[in-house]
Amino acid sequence: MNGRDLVRSMKAVGSAGAAQRLRTVRAAWRARRADAAGLPARGVERARVPGPVQDVEPGPGGGVVRFSRSELRITVAVNGAVFWGWDGAGPEPSYALAGRCPEPDPRAVLEPDKDGGWRVVAERATVVVSRHGAVEVQTPGGVTLRRDLPPRWWEPVDGGAARWMQRSEVVADARFFGLGGRSSGPRLRDGVYRLWNTDPGHAFGPGDDPLYLTMPVQLVVADAATHLVFHDTSWDGTVTLREGEEGAGSGHDRPGTSELRMSGGPLRCWVMVGTPARVLLAWASLTGASALPPAWALGYQHARWGFGSEQEVRRIVAGYQDRDLPLDAVHLDIDHYDEHQVFTVDQDRFPKLPQLAEDLRRGGVRLVSIVDPAVRIEPGNAVYDAGTAVDAFVRDAAGQLVRGEVWAGESVFPDFTHARVREWWGGLYEERLGQGFSGFWHDMNEPTSFAAFGEWTLPRSARHALEGRGGDHREAHNVYALCMARAAYEGLRELAPQERPFVFSRSGWAGLQRYGGTWSGDVATGWPGLRASLSLVLGLGLCGVPYSGPDVGGFDGSPSPELYLRWFQLGAYLPLFRTHASLRAGRREPWEFGSEVLAHARVALVERRRLLPYFMTLAHLARRTGTPYVRPLWWGIPEDRALRDCEDAFLLGDCLLVAPVLDPGADRRAVQLPRGRWYDTATGRAYDGPGQILVDAPLSRIPVLARAGAVLPVRGEDGGLELEVWAPARGRTGGGLVVPDAGDGWEEPEIERYVTRWQGRRVVVEREGEDGVSAPPHPVRIRGVEER
Ligand code: NOJ
Repeated sequence: MNGRDLVRSMKAVGSAGAAQRLRTVRAAWRARRADAAGLPARGVERARVPGPVQDVEPGPGGGVVRFSRSELRITVAVNGAVFWGWDGAGPEPSYALAGRCPEPDPRAVLEPDKDGGWRVVAERATVVVSRHGAVEVQTPGGVTLRRDLPPRWWEPVDGGAARWMQRSEVVADARFFGLGGRSSGPRLRDGVYRLWNTDPGHAFGPGDDPLYLTMPVQLVVADAATHLVFHDTSWDGTVTLREGEEGAGSGHDRPGTSELRMSGGPLRCWVMVGTPARVLLAWASLTGASALPPAWALGYQHARWGFGSEQEVRRIVAGYQDRDLPLDAVHLDIDHYDEHQVFTVDQDRFPKLPQLAEDLRRGGVRLVSIVDPAVRIEPGNAVYDAGTAVDAFVRDAAGQLVRGEVWAGESVFPDFTHARVREWWGGLYEERLGQGFSGFWHDMNEPTSFAAFGEWTLPRSARHALEGRGGDHREAHNVYALCMARAAYEGLRELAPQERPFVFSRSGWAGLQRYGGTWSGDVATGWPGLRASLSLVLGLGLCGVPYSGPDVGGFDGSPSPELYLRWFQLGAYLPLFRTHASLRAGRREPWEFGSEVLAHARVALVERRRLLPYFMTLAHLARRTGTPYVRPLWWGIPEDRALRDCEDAFLLGDCLLVAPVLDPGADRRAVQLPRGRWYDTATGRAYDGPGQILVDAPLSRIPVLARAGAVLPVRGEDGGLELEVWAPARGRTGGGLVVPDAGDGWEEPEIERYVTRWQGRRVVVEREGEDGVSAPPHPVRIRGVEER
């Protein structure tokens, strides 16, 4: 945060500016004073390493290896994930885990290794511990994927949280992905990445780091295997990555390195080894299945900060309807609140919100509400009063309420790390449901509190319940939004049990997918922002959060018609497809950019609606398998080096390869194809991968290729389900899964499995069931037969 950013943000709040600016100065001073009084002073520290091995104690799934100055607990879980914790740290308590920790695998045993070390051999990985505490993860075939050098701690001699550092080496060909939502990925280049959820205070582009949603999750992809490593610690820290180099200096490989430095918290981690799909499955079984969005949330949504009135909302919706443009939801930002106060409505400008919601719903459009965590300090404000009554708000070390500054003015912050507070907060969504809202957009929950200097968040000394353990903001900060999402999700499950909650949140942490998705936050309008928005979606998916998307068109300023269109075309293939913009930014409705853009945007909207059953299927598969809808091209073939380095295209499920246009002036683009046959869906022309092809990308569309043999569930003209089948290559077969979903509710649809093959000169499609094959119960359209 710098002065310029502050002025910019304060301008955004308009006339309240001067008084608010003053309050941000006061808030900053208060935070500084609170931390000076409430945080232990950084005194003399003592460095420590584990020292030499002493003895071991076998236990279920592994055991404990004791060193002279620490001990290492290793457990292999039944899902194949390996856990280890130093200084006796166990896997629980953890905000990332879904429910209880998986059972230990009784087959994994601790046994002596050479040179006085120990090892645990499990089905999918072997963990080798050296006598000085280096930990290696090997494939079952014996290839070392990762070598963690003995960690180092720095402990304050007067007690308190120890800092620690863990340096690791990975194979030279490895590529790093993940760490939550990063704007400069998806492949994480050499650099320092911070683990501290942060509102950058301005519209961001590639290179702005950290952003709103960080997590200590690295997916490391290499020829020998993929592995995911999760350091289960919510404290502030950094990860310094350096990619390795094959055949560096005199022909020797230089390993890649990852150095994690944390300001506190346990040194414990989980490692999962296998193919990307297996690894993400294990990760989902550890951290929880992703919430299934209702079907409408997989449609197209339009938001804006500053609709300003019901009339304007109606005008915009009519704009879509009059032009026959599909629209599934409209999002109301803080301007519909009464003076920006959460869970209120400005009765002058939105006097009949439930009526508006009902009218829109009749026309197939849902209303989504922004929800900010900060509550204005104002006796008489029902949320403030009720929160005060249940002692919901965060206090400082001296027991005083922590006061911050957000849109509504001087505010307090619910402590979502307390079950009682979550329950209270979850109940507040009743008011929103009563206003007619169907979905919830959590914002400013890093949490953000404006400050003239220092950090834009709560003081680190602020106290939190942390489920009864007690602690401060240093530990609670990164999980604040995760706990807020839990409060909303659980509240909505009670309040509207028949419906699937739709929650998406700007900030979060490992496990957020259990409650909902996320979005890019304030991505800067510009071609770099367009690229950053794809990077975020891909990276988050690889960390287990499959539902996300950018502010289409960018958050600030005004995109050129071409940029807007290219963003729109990309957005149409991302899970959250939403146009949104800031208060003073230009318009984002598709008709605001001229008739040509409108015509092409319409094609994208119509195609998105047609693909809805496919998106729904992908949502079900993500929930069951942990596989994100949007995947890097290397997903099924991580050993293909060209794909591993390709960042400008992605797979949407198994069937489609989407190659967005990310540069101005392009009318064709190169596409790196994975192996197999692919059809350009616009021309039907067939290409055989692997290799690079050049395809047309006129303004009217971005290249989308279908995999030969794919069975794609689409919406037919009558609204029913149809199967679009792409001919397998000659002599080959294909197939696909379809999950016919009712659109909302909890009924578990049966997964339909299809196979396709050539029969003479025809392509046939059959449904595979327990009693053999049968004809598909849906109309079928075969494509790609006539093509070369
Ligand atoms: C910041 C959010 O990122 C943005 O999407 C929203 O419009 C503003 N807050 C105002 O609520």
